[in-house]
Amino acid sequence: MPNLSTSTPDVRQAAFRFRCIACGDLSDNASQNFRCSHCGDLLEITYPLWKETAPEARNLKDAWRQRRLSQSAIDQSGVWRFREALPALAREEQAITLREGNTPLYELPQCARITGVPRLFAKHQGLNPTGSFKDAGMTVAATFARVAGFRWVACASTGNTSASMAAYAARGGMRSLVLVPEGKISWSKLSQALDYGAVTCQLRTDFDGCLRLLQELVSRAPVYQLNSINPFRLEGQKTLALELLEQLDWQPPDHIIVPGGNLGNSSAIGKALVEMRDLGLISRLPKLSVIQAEGANALVRTLREAAGKRLISVQAETRATAVRIGNPASWKKAVHVLEATSGACEQVSEIEIAQAKAEIGAEGIGCEPASAVTLAGLKKLVKQGFVKPEETVVLVLTGNLLKDPDFTMEFHRGDLFKGSADESASAALESLRRPPIVLDATLEAVIRTLEQAEK
Ligand code: F0G
Repeated sequence: MPNLSTSTPDVRQAAFRFRCIACGDLSDNASQNFRCSHCGDLLEITYPLWKETAPEARNLKDAWRQRRLSQSAIDQSGVWRFREALPALAREEQAITLREGNTPLYELPQCARITGVPRLFAKHQGLNPTGSFKDAGMTVAATFARVAGFRWVACASTGNTSASMAAYAARGGMRSLVLVPEGKISWSKLSQALDYGAVTCQLRTDFDGCLRLLQELVSRAPVYQLNSINPFRLEGQKTLALELLEQLDWQPPDHIIVPGGNLGNSSAIGKALVEMRDLGLISRLPKLSVIQAEGANALVRTLREAAGKRLISVQAETRATAVRIGNPASWKKAVHVLEATSGACEQVSEIEIAQAKAEIGAEGIGCEPASAVTLAGLKKLVKQGFVKPEETVVLVLTGNLLKDPDFTMEFHRGDLFKGSADESASAALESLRRPPIVLDATLEAVIRTLEQAEK
């Protein structure tokens, strides 16, 4: 078997610079907080050489596909096999990889019937090594942390970023520090950080408080921050879109729908789509829409009440704890992306999230609550006429079902909305519940149960 990682196609690896998203200032180095030294806004990574040496789109597509046959670690990564679209490494062995990416694109026949959109797909990022989409960004950012010589990496998190960071730090021989809101992340996610050896601090605040503290920390200590403010994270997360387009034979879907929390993922996917259009790999842009939980709807309010000009933060509250974020760092990038792709932004209720999660589960796929906002949001966008029945729609499922078993158990046992304002409305979800049944260990009891289930 030839080693395809050495038979590189005739495309140039990308040299990159940092560009401020507000004033456009270009620089070769980024400060510890990844903010512009002139105006203080966020930085993004840009590839000035692409204009002159634009790689042949066909060569790129062939090279990316070919690498799937290679045995080398970097080619087996569903992120690094797209490395011409990423900041270049001096040597391929520098990549810290757990063979992330390469996630399936599933058809959703039952959800298609429910929504009235026959061509409905789910890109399941929950099938990454640590169970969430964060791995695609983390492999790139952790790699560049190590290249820069950092011993410590750190993040604030609602759980998935910390699980992913802890894993990649461990693989790369770095120490990691996790700041999470006490009592507000699932045990599954917390246990991952512990298992991967992170120093894990549960702070008596919310995610936004953790992130504020991290910003102060990185200005005082030689710690590299791996939140999605870090533009290397977003470069890695971009590859979700490249892989999706490849899976659709480079025929863009009409819509891509993502959950919105800190708004890094929507920004990354949007950046990828625009770059792929500019490189000539696709001829038109899909509409990228962002869905938030009603209780954590900062972007929805920012667009509706301030026309996307200034952030309206909220005190976040939702059982979809992954997106329990009120002060999203990448809001401006997300607004740009929605404008560039003509996407929509919607919010969904706790009941709608629970229902959508059970419906995705019933497809035999499953996801965590934050991912289910996509299906709930799609229903609204169809009702509004923004998504048409004949269009192709891809939902990005960001996290694995096993990330939040408490939510699933409480839903099926009928406890999720007990004592809340939604209690009576939740009766409508009865037909979706499958509570575990405790029985005497007799054949008759099991047969009776089987017969009842048939009715
Ligand atoms: N879905 C899941 C499962 C998440 O974990 C997150 C974010 C999102 C969606 C939202 O993505 O922030 O890029 O808009 N989780 C972060 C964390 C914040 O710390 O794990 P976003």
